[in-house]
Amino acid sequence: MLKGLIFDLDGVIADTARFHLQAWNQLAQRLDIVLPPEANDALRGRSRMDSLNLILSYGNKVDAYSDEEKAAFAQSKNDLYLQLIQTLTPADILPGIAQLLQDAKALGLHMSIASASKNAPTILKHLQLDTAFDTIVDPAKLHRGKPDPEIFTLAQQALNLQASDVISFEDASAGVQAIKAANQFAVGIGDAQVLKQADYIVASTADLQLSKIVAAFKEVSA
Ligand code: BG6
Ligand code: MG
Repeated sequence: MLKGLIFDLDGVIADTARFHLQAWNQLAQRLDIVLPPEANDALRGRSRMDSLNLILSYGNKVDAYSDEEKAAFAQSKNDLYLQLIQTLTPADILPGIAQLLQDAKALGLHMSIASASKNAPTILKHLQLDTAFDTIVDPAKLHRGKPDPEIFTLAQQALNLQASDVISFEDASAGVQAIKAANQFAVGIGDAQVLKQADYIVASTADLQLSKIVAAFKEVSA
């Protein structure tokens, strides 16, 4: 029985995925690395260091730098990212999300954030959504990042729920893979081809309607 919703943050609650990409692009240019088109999906949902290593791999430079240099690269990306998110306000909550959260509250559903980002609490504050969720998984406690199911399982356990009680929302293929590996119902937001493993797919958050999603959830749980 549906009792809870679990949300990725970047690219689901707010359009911060473009800021991550912008900041990574700037670092990649500095390192003379050209990001291929698939980086747009591949960088979503991955931890900061996993993302950096992926970028270096695009330039065949994974072994070209020391751990200290890599830490400095990640820090400079995050410095730029922090500047970019300074401007966020509640107006940057993606279309359809405020309504979805309101409808979920009205149904008495519990809600959690499962974001790999250490900046999630700051972003939620800017969006004035810092009290909208029952729990936020601390990514510092994770042993493995998405596509591993750990973060979605931890979010579900923090809500005291079973996998069959929750619906989880993602914009990244790594995230959808993580949800499915956690045996949860996955809502994918974005390109249907990229997110094909999801149980229910919409092109944009504006298309999210809780009643329709719940109907699809009930169909597979029947
Ligand atoms: C995820 C983003 O939510 O968080 C990734 O989709 C990002 O792009 C990851 O790399 C880690 O974020 P941060 O803010 O801790 O560097
Ligand atoms: Mg995301």
